[in-house]
Amino acid sequence: MLNIDLTGKVAVVTGATGELGHTMARTLAVCGADVAVHYLRNAEKAEALAADIRALGRRSVAVQADVTELASVQAMAEVVRGELGQAAIIVNNAVSQYGWTSVLEQAPEDFTDQFRSCVLQTVHMAKVFVPAMQAKNWGRVIVISTECAMQCHPHQGAYASAKRGLDGVVRVLAKEIGMHQVTVNQVAPGWTISDRVRAEGSEEQAGYTHSVPLARRGTDQEIASAVAFLASDLASFISGAYLPVCGGNVMPGI
Ligand SMILES: NC(=O)c1ccc[n+]([C@@H]2O[C@H](COP(=O)([O-])OP(=O)(O)OC[C@H]3O[C@@H](n4cnc5c(N)ncnc54)[C@H](OP(=O)(O)O)[C@@H]3O)[C@@H](O)[C@H]2O)c1
Repeated sequence: MLNIDLTGKVAVVTGATGELGHTMARTLAVCGADVAVHYLRNAEKAEALAADIRALGRRSVAVQADVTELASVQAMAEVVRGELGQAAIIVNNAVSQYGWTSVLEQAPEDFTDQFRSCVLQTVHMAKVFVPAMQAKNWGRVIVISTECAMQCHPHQGAYASAKRGLDGVVRVLAKEIGMHQVTVNQVAPGWTISDRVRAEGSEEQAGYTHSVPLARRGTDQEIASAVAFLASDLASFISGAYLPVCGGNVMPGI
């Protein structure tokens, strides 16, 4: 039987206090990983999730950092190393939020902010965590993108351009570090059902799902399952991939 077994691996999930991140962190722990639960502002939620993961029998610590600042990510890595050991799996999931409007109306600062949150996060996390993966000849860099990066819909200029920007970093990094058996992949969710959506009762979005081949929205667990797969040895020969998890709503060309 094939299993996703992450026993003995240390994972860091950025934005683990967010809607999708907390399910990713918990799922990696269910698969056996010890997990650093990263947050920016929501310390209470991070501590609760870390306690939840420890109740599963794994080690876990809540760690704070601003992923747009290299020094902050370096300080976080020191805490992770001290509390859990070297990370073998990083999931770059955090994203800053801003209002969506047209390119002509969008403040230039929103583009800068999204660039920092998406592209620089990927750079900072790689600089800080990848060297130890190279030394061990095993590692997983998983970057959360979005179907929006392929759709480029109106009013998503800052978001789509930042996510497309991180695609460049991911592809280059995959080529630079692959020989150390460190894989670098993107998971691209569609418009996903999370706890906030469930609480609102807003799961049904016919205007969106009519174009989705699977005719429904995906769930936070379905995104987290893709992340767990890419983190595992089952995905040992997959690198440089952009994996849409959106029911077929976008299909990368071949
Ligand atoms: N939700 C969807 O339907 C959907 C669809 C497609 C793609 N995605 C992608 O999936 C990922 C997660 O999305 P989400 O909807 O779960 O996000 P979310 O609920 O808005 O959570 C964002 C997370 O990022 C953290 N964060 C924000 N700015 C940060 C910074 N400068 N430094 C460090 N952490 C920062 C927040 O921390 P605090 O809360 O602690 O402040 C929070 O944990 C994102 O990459 C997003 O682009 C989501």
